[in-house]
Amino acid sequence: MSDDTSDAKSANTMWGGRFAEGPDAIMEAINASIGFDRRLAQQDIEGSRAHAAMLAATGIITDKDAEAIREGLLTVLSEIESGKFAFSTALEDIHMNVEARLRELIGAPAGRLHTARSRNDQVALDFRMWVREQADAAIAGLEALMKTLLAQAEAGADWVMPGFTHLQVAQPVTWGHHMLAYVEMFARDRARFGDARKRMNECPLGAAALAGTSFPIDRQMTAEALGFDRPTANSLDTVADRDFALEFLAAAAITAMHLSRLAEELVIWSSAQFRFVTLSDRFSTGSSIMPQKKNPDAAELIRAKIGRILGALVALFTVMKGLPLAYSKDMQEDKEQVFDAADSLMLALAAMEGMVSDMNANREALEAAAGAGFSTATDLADWLVRALNMPFREAHHVTGALVALAEKKGVDLPDLTLDDMKSVHEGITEDVFGVLGVHNSVASRTSYGGTAPTQVRAQIKRWKEALK
Ligand code: ARG
Repeated sequence: MSDDTSDAKSANTMWGGRFAEGPDAIMEAINASIGFDRRLAQQDIEGSRAHAAMLAATGIITDKDAEAIREGLLTVLSEIESGKFAFSTALEDIHMNVEARLRELIGAPAGRLHTARSRNDQVALDFRMWVREQADAAIAGLEALMKTLLAQAEAGADWVMPGFTHLQVAQPVTWGHHMLAYVEMFARDRARFGDARKRMNECPLGAAALAGTSFPIDRQMTAEALGFDRPTANSLDTVADRDFALEFLAAAAITAMHLSRLAEELVIWSSAQFRFVTLSDRFSTGSSIMPQKKNPDAAELIRAKIGRILGALVALFTVMKGLPLAYSKDMQEDKEQVFDAADSLMLALAAMEGMVSDMNANREALEAAAGAGFSTATDLADWLVRALNMPFREAHHVTGALVALAEKKGVDLPDLTLDDMKSVHEGITEDVFGVLGVHNSVASRTSYGGTAPTQVRAQIKRWKEALK
């Protein structure tokens, strides 16, 4: 794509009627958004085509002019898509670039397109349609990732691994359960994008500059043509509102936070100290100096994406706070942040999906780690409560003494002898060994949402139905 260097001496042909002089080059540089809002070209043209059709249907312009406009706009779009379009900084933004080219192509009728419209409702429309598409893309990306996590969960529904709190071994859990935890998170993210999409799906077109218009426009018609549920109900709010972008960024930031947590686990799990998973070569890189290394770069970069995505949310909040109604040029600073955040999010979702789909969980390493760190101590305490009718607090204390004894002897809980056990508490019987194994431990946690393979399989079934 080529940019012309503008002629700063002549006044802007779109709004320069009252201007004797053109803008200073620095003014032009700070004012122009075409460098980035060209990404809205398709939405801009779709919106203008719907607007022109409505202007003709309501008799505001002739059918003939509307036809010329609508056809001409398609030509502009094809020029943009094929990279032939010469974007002009002097024409500030995508809206004026498109309209100016339309005038070159079809002449006078082009001048009627902007009837009953302003760039303020135009940009609100274009941006909203762009964000709406991105919400759909995020939902699709999240669903793909959820399906991949489900496949991992299904493959290892009953594999045991340590569950952690404080990154200290807590209780054994199943691999399937751990994978499903992320399915739940990403499902909430998906719902957040869905909610935001529903709320943003009102059409700004027709709010005009800020007050509506005296022309007999049909806002229902343009709303329907552009896939909106209804037109927005207050013209001032419409051109002043960027909630839809903030909600998108908020949903993106929470998703990025979840991705970051999963990425962090993959970084830890793929280390030589853990060896819980092996990442594929396709999603790893090597070191230029240490030949043995395989680095989880994709995971690390996903872990980092939250920085720019959350940054975009904070930036847009900061731009919007304190702006008086209705439109202010500050709002032109909304787009780059959202573009970057959306690009980062889609890339992170795709990379995570690829990484999770490729990765191999190391069943043996998971199981070996599951029993370490006295992970079945809670099972032992629960056994004391059930078998000996001991109050839980006392059982906790007795178990603590048994852990201390095992630690002193340098063995795990199942390796203590019955005599060792009895030395701490008389009443303990042989039966206790039945609960000290990690498989028994996880199998016993059958409460709804618990880690038992039976529960995990039920949840996998539910999610598979839901994601069909
Ligand atoms: N380029 C502007 C933006 O991105 C479009 C709206 C301009 N409106 C105006 N009254 N100057 O926000």
